[in-house]
Amino acid sequence: MSEIAFATRGLSKRFGAVVVADDISIEVAAGERRALIGPNGAGKTSFVGLVSGVIRPDAGAVLLHGRDIAREPPHRRVRMGLVRTFQVTSLFRDLTLVENLFLAVSEHVGASARMWGAAASRRDILERIDAVLDRLGLRADRFRKMSEIAYGRQRLVEIALALCLEPRVLILDEPAAGVPSDEAGVMLDALDRLPRDLAILMIEHDMRIVKRFADRITVLVQGAVLMTGAPAEVMASEEVRAVYLGRGGQARFQSEATRA
Ligand SMILES: Nc1ncnc2c1ncn2[C@@H]1O[C@H](COP(=O)(O)OP(=O)(O)OP(=O)(O)O)[C@@H](O)[C@H]1O
Ligand SMILES: [Mg+2]
Repeated sequence: MSEIAFATRGLSKRFGAVVVADDISIEVAAGERRALIGPNGAGKTSFVGLVSGVIRPDAGAVLLHGRDIAREPPHRRVRMGLVRTFQVTSLFRDLTLVENLFLAVSEHVGASARMWGAAASRRDILERIDAVLDRLGLRADRFRKMSEIAYGRQRLVEIALALCLEPRVLILDEPAAGVPSDEAGVMLDALDRLPRDLAILMIEHDMRIVKRFADRITVLVQGAVLMTGAPAEVMASEEVRAVYLGRGGQARFQSEATRA
């Protein structure tokens, strides 16, 4: 039995009459690639908010390597190793790639001198950034302004930023959203190159990416877990297909599942 890196227990939240999280219990093993899918409005983004600490749960626990972090503020969760990707708009378009990462990491170091050691220096930070850029194949873009970098690669910068914060559990919120299909391969290659010991939870609509990436898939419907299973099992499920009905979603889901 592999070690559980990340788990929720009975995580629940309602906004008025809308139940966005209905007793959600999931477990993600160390090194696991998990996809979280579900129709629009299922509560995927709310789940990320609950887990990252920007939404306060009504009930339930969020466990990071067995420790309940549900009462920690977002920045402390990051420091403890739970990192989520940011929206592209969080990057400064007029700054270079390396300037953007340096700013983000410096802010994090400021909040967390212990993680970097008291002697953390500009040079240490730049070395760490370069190692991440090499891993993701982004080094050639390091002195380019964000506004001059192709959109698919800008999304990679979001992942690079997260990796610079040394996560143990990484949450990717639709990393390929808006990426044109001719750039999607770049994202798939980069996902393959993420550190193996990281536990990763990825929200993604593109079933080709989900099928290639995920060890297991969790399906969320109306705030509740419908099923968790291997990609083949989930994609063959009549129940899962049914929840995509009526939104033009079933045809899309099936064609993507078979094309994948
Ligand atoms: N702050 C809020 N107040 C009230 N209702 C909210 C709030 N945030 C989300 N909701 C509602 O909760 C439900 C879940 O929304 P959420 O954004 O988590 O879904 P999602 O699965 O991420 O959908 P999508 O695939 O469209 O991104 C929706 O009905 C949404 O309107
Ligand atoms: Mg969403």
